[in-house]
Order: sequence, then C-alpha cells, then structure tokens
Amino acid sequence: MNKKIAVIGAGNVGATTAMYLAEANFADVVLVDIVEGMPVGKGLDLTQAGPVRGYNAMITGTNKYSDIKGSDIVIMTAGLPRKPGMSREDLLNMNADIVGSAAKNIKKYAPKSTVIVVSNPLDLMTYHMRHVTGFPKNRVLGQAGVLDSIRFRAFIAMELNVAMTDTQAMVLGGHGDTMVPLPRYTTVAGIPIGELIPKDRIKAICQRTAVGGGEIVKLLKTGSAYYAPAAASVDMCRAIFNDEKKLLPASAYLTGQYGIKDIYIGVPVVLGANGVEKILELKLNKGELGSLQKSAKTYKEHLKIMGY
Ligand code: NAI
Ligand code: 2OP
Repeated sequence: MNKKIAVIGAGNVGATTAMYLAEANFADVVLVDIVEGMPVGKGLDLTQAGPVRGYNAMITGTNKYSDIKGSDIVIMTAGLPRKPGMSREDLLNMNADIVGSAAKNIKKYAPKSTVIVVSNPLDLMTYHMRHVTGFPKNRVLGQAGVLDSIRFRAFIAMELNVAMTDTQAMVLGGHGDTMVPLPRYTTVAGIPIGELIPKDRIKAICQRTAVGGGEIVKLLKTGSAYYAPAAASVDMCRAIFNDEKKLLPASAYLTGQYGIKDIYIGVPVVLGANGVEKILELKLNKGELGSLQKSAKTYKEHLKIMGY
C-alpha cells in the first residue's frame, strides 16, 4: 500500500484502531509503543489475520519513532487511561509529558502528517500537540465528538428500537462532563428526536451520554473504553483519506467562532484531505451557547495550569 498511518500507543485504543484500520484496508499501519516487543507482537498478530479477514495492509509494530517517517496521518493514543474515580483532567500532567515527547517526534519524522489526537484530557492534549509540533491548525485535531455522538446515537437507537445507522446526533463542547449534547440537531431518519422521545427521556439520554465514558470505566475497572473510541478515530481517518468533506464534531482550534478563541474544543467541522477544512457556526440558543462557552472556560483554566 502506498499510504501510511502511524498509531502512537499500542494499548487498548491504539491496537483496536490498528485493527479497524487494517480492516478498512486503505493504508499500511505503523504501531509505536515504548513497551519493548509488545507493538511488534501486536503488529505481527494483526498482519497474520489479513488472509482470512481479507486485507492486505501490513501492520508493523516498533519501539522507534523514526519508523513513522512519511506517515500521512498520525493517530495519537499513547497515554494513561482513567482509573475508577479519576477525571480526565487528573490525567493532565501525566499525559502532557507523553504527548509532548510524541509531538517532537511527529514534527521530526512526519512533518507533513495530519494528527488526530485521542489521548486525554482530549481538548488540552490536542492544544499541546499543536503547540509542540507547530503544525497549521487544520492539520491537528482531536477525536472526541465522534465518540460522544455515536454514544448518543446508540442510546437513541436502544431507546426507540430502531437502526443505529438511521440515527444522527451532534455533541459539542469539551470531551468531559461539560460536553454539550444537542437534541435539537439529533434525528432518526431526519425526524427530530423531540417528536419521538419524551422530554424527560431525552434529558436522561443526554446525561448518560455526558458520563458515557465514566459508565464504561466503572464497569471495566482496569481501564477505559476502546472499541467505540477506535471506531470513531478510524471514521475520521477515512474522511481525511477519501477527502469525504464529512461533517462531524471534532476538537478544533477556535479563533473567535462561538465567541471562543485560542482553545481546542468540540465543534462541527468539515473533514477532508486538508484536515479541518471548515468550522461550522450553528445558530445555538442561549442555553446551548452558554454551555459551550462554560465548557471552554474550564479548558482555558486547565491550559493555564499547563503553563499556556
Ligand atoms: P492503554 O494503557 O491501554 O494504552 C496506552 C499505551 O500508551 C500503553 O501501551 C503505553 O505503553 C503507551 N505509551 C505510554 N507512553 C508512551 C510513549 N511516550 N510513546 C508511545 N507509547 C506510549 O490506554 P488506552 O485505553 O489505549 O487509552 C489511551 C489514551 O486514550 C488515554 O489517555 C485515554 O484516556 C484516551 N482515550 C481517549 C478517548 C477519546 O475519545 N478521546 C477514548 C478512550 C481513551
Ligand atoms: C471515554 O470517553 C475515556 O475519554 C474516554 O471513554
């Protein structure tokens, strides 16, 4: 294959992302991790599944960042996951060091890549990645909104017993408990959910979406979600590779949109070959805009803790 995707971190999210990427069959994958041998073993294992899973992608594991050379897209998943009782923000300092060192290597070995950050706390790590790489803002974005909105979609499908694929949802804001699910922009086969689900149930579903990651952390006990996060990252990757101009929520750098600037936060974007090609400004009502700005304010404060 002549396209290459690097996945940094070969843990739960990274390895699952590599698996979904292989099955999508659009690029070779390099899986990087600091644990000796482990990414090499996972790469071999995934490659050996190819003959029966029907893919030709090579998945190469490595401990050397130099192997990401020439990657078109880098997906940054390295970092520590949340443990029960930990917020995403608790991970802040621990993961900033990991993201910072990966960013230096991405800048060195894959200077033309588009970087999708997954490591938490997502919006802050995406800001950090962009700052350290110095890449243009369209080429560094964060994956969270796709995950949050597919969780919202799954809950709606479960509520109504309808096809998951018929649902569409929009979730804005930071990837944390201050995220902003938007029921007004959420539909089933084009029908607004307000016409299908009673108000109190919509409220409960929005709440479940906002704490959807925590629900899984509590159940798993030793880590956080990875199947849906990996699927969401691959969806974004596909949009970039195929220049799909796909409208989806992602953490993007704002320069005044929604009255917010110099911060990464979840907003609707158009994703194509040039990364974030456009940021859409929805006509939010007062409550929705207030929630988004409140979410942004929290992250501004956390950026200060990081020295920004
Ligand atoms: P994990 O613990 O299974 O894997 C993390 C991997 O990163 C480990 O294999 C570790 O050895 C590796 N690593 C640590 N430092 C590294 C470095 N400097 N270079 C390369 N690899 C390094 O964790 P998991 O479940 O894969 O989660 C990874 C991150 O993704 C966490 O920060 C987690 O909170 C975040 N996450 C974000 C989501 C989102 O929607 N944005 C959803 C799910 C997880
Ligand atoms: C999630 O939402 C932990 O951010 C991760 O599952």
